[in-house]
Amino acid sequence: MVMSIGWNPYYQNTVKSMETHILHKFKEDFYGSNLKVCLCGYLRTMKNFGSLDELISAIKKDISDAQEALDKPEFQKIKSDNFFSSSSQATCCSASL
Ligand SMILES: Cc1cc2nc3c(=O)[nH]c(=O)nc-3n(C[C@H](O)[C@H](O)[C@H](O)COP(=O)(O)O)c2cc1C
Repeated sequence: MVMSIGWNPYYQNTVKSMETHILHKFKEDFYGSNLKVCLCGYLRTMKNFGSLDELISAIKKDISDAQEALDKPEFQKIKSDNFFSSSSQATCCSASL
């Protein structure tokens, strides 16, 4: 995933939010499911943009930067962490970066 954390200045939001954009394309809907996420790194600061196209381009770059980073061995090993197994009730990921 890539996660946006902040006030979304382009939309002048007044509430700080954490928005998860899932990279994997699933065949089925999964409304109501619990989502486990792990924050592995930092990409950039939240910014305002002059147009929606600029915001979309920035998000597309975030996605490609994240996909490139997540292919690295140090991030690949997090995928198999017990935190992500369906039976795990853990509240945080134990991988160290
Ligand atoms: C990876 C990612 C990066 C984002 N970066 C910014 C940003 O820099 N500035 C901003 O105003 N909003 C940013 N957003 C939030 C978008 O503005 C947000 O997706 C938008 O509010 C649409 O929300 P909606 O799907 O609820 O309509 C980002 C969202 C994602 C997923």
